[in-house]
Amino acid sequence: MADVALRNVRKSYSGVETVHGIDLDIQHGEFCVFVGPSGCGKSTLLRMIAGLESITKGELSIDGEVVNDVDAADRGVAMVFQNYALYPHMSVRENMSFSLRMAGRNKAEIAARVNEAARILQLDALMDRKPSQLSGGQRQRVAIGRAIVRDPKVFLFDEPLSNLDAELRVQMRVEIAKLHQALGNTMIYVTHDQTEAMTLADKIVVLRAGQIEQVGTPLELYENPSNLFVAGFIGSPKMNFLKGRLTRSDRPLLECGGAFLPMPAWLAQSSQSGGEIVLGIRPEHFDRVPEAAAHLMIVVDVVENLGGTSFVYGRTSTGEAVVVEKREGPAPRAGDRLEVGFQLDDARFFHPEGARLRSDQPN
Ligand SMILES: Nc1ncnc2c1ncn2[C@@H]1O[C@H](COP(=O)(O)OP(=O)(O)OP(=O)(O)O)[C@@H](O)[C@H]1O
Ligand SMILES: [Mg+2]
Repeated sequence: MADVALRNVRKSYSGVETVHGIDLDIQHGEFCVFVGPSGCGKSTLLRMIAGLESITKGELSIDGEVVNDVDAADRGVAMVFQNYALYPHMSVRENMSFSLRMAGRNKAEIAARVNEAARILQLDALMDRKPSQLSGGQRQRVAIGRAIVRDPKVFLFDEPLSNLDAELRVQMRVEIAKLHQALGNTMIYVTHDQTEAMTLADKIVVLRAGQIEQVGTPLELYENPSNLFVAGFIGSPKMNFLKGRLTRSDRPLLECGGAFLPMPAWLAQSSQSGGEIVLGIRPEHFDRVPEAAAHLMIVVDVVENLGGTSFVYGRTSTGEAVVVEKREGPAPRAGDRLEVGFQLDDARFFHPEGARLRSDQPN
């Protein structure tokens, strides 16, 4: 297990900076997920921690030791990649023992470690097969097994599940969570899938364009996103964003979506955006019609009925797209007019340029 600390870590390729000064602490045994859109620098950051990519500026330490100039093999980390890259001519057992044989470990120790990893990953019955005789999920388990036998302080995963089909991805996600519980090692996991991030992480790091947007537990990011980007990235279906203009009064109203919605009084003092704000409501908070403080009419475009719940996709009278999660009552049909409503406690408010507006912040 290890603490991993990054201090102002930067990466440039041919003089162009792509990772811009990352400060981050990952605790012993923590499951930390880097999430963000394609090209935001997740893999680059992970590869710098692994030692596969040099660090242009800043400091990386593992277990209190600065490792910028320490070889990948000596950092006590093991990485699992998206394309599992098994040796095709070797059996599962040979693939899993390869790094230990290269390191010159004795046979008894190698056998013990490989058998233990096989037990944890339930690969015992497959040890003599070649990779071509395995399913995608089994291959990925062998790739994880190769990391486990090295007994690393830190496991690094780069989108390990994205080559698998949807069902297998869910199954392997659960297996990785169990693995973390069983081993207790520090794990750093890269994905662009917010569901994986939400379900696996102790700590999520949301990245955009080489910078950290927010760090927090899944629930912190879900309930208190610090800006529009994080609010839109975490949660599925996405948070609804409605642009509007506040009326100037002590009990402000927001003119938006063809209605005047009552807003909390503190927003009246929020002059920094000249009265233009973005209202954020999660789909599951938009079906509180009887007890709602604010109501809106939408026209239904499409209904996705999932059995226990349905997602209603519609438009306000001014054309903004809205998604509502409906858990009770009959599901509406395409073309219906539907009243939706929300409570002010569930609403989040943002400056049109992205920053969160909060009641406890000076404007
Ligand atoms: N070897 C390289 N030379 C030049 N630029 C690179 C190199 N590797 C990555 N980059 C650039 O650095 C940025 C971050 O890339 P990175 O692979 O870390 O993104 P990512 O977040 O892992 O994306 P994805 O989700 O698509 O895997 C991108 O703009 C990419 O083009
Ligand atoms: Mg990547």
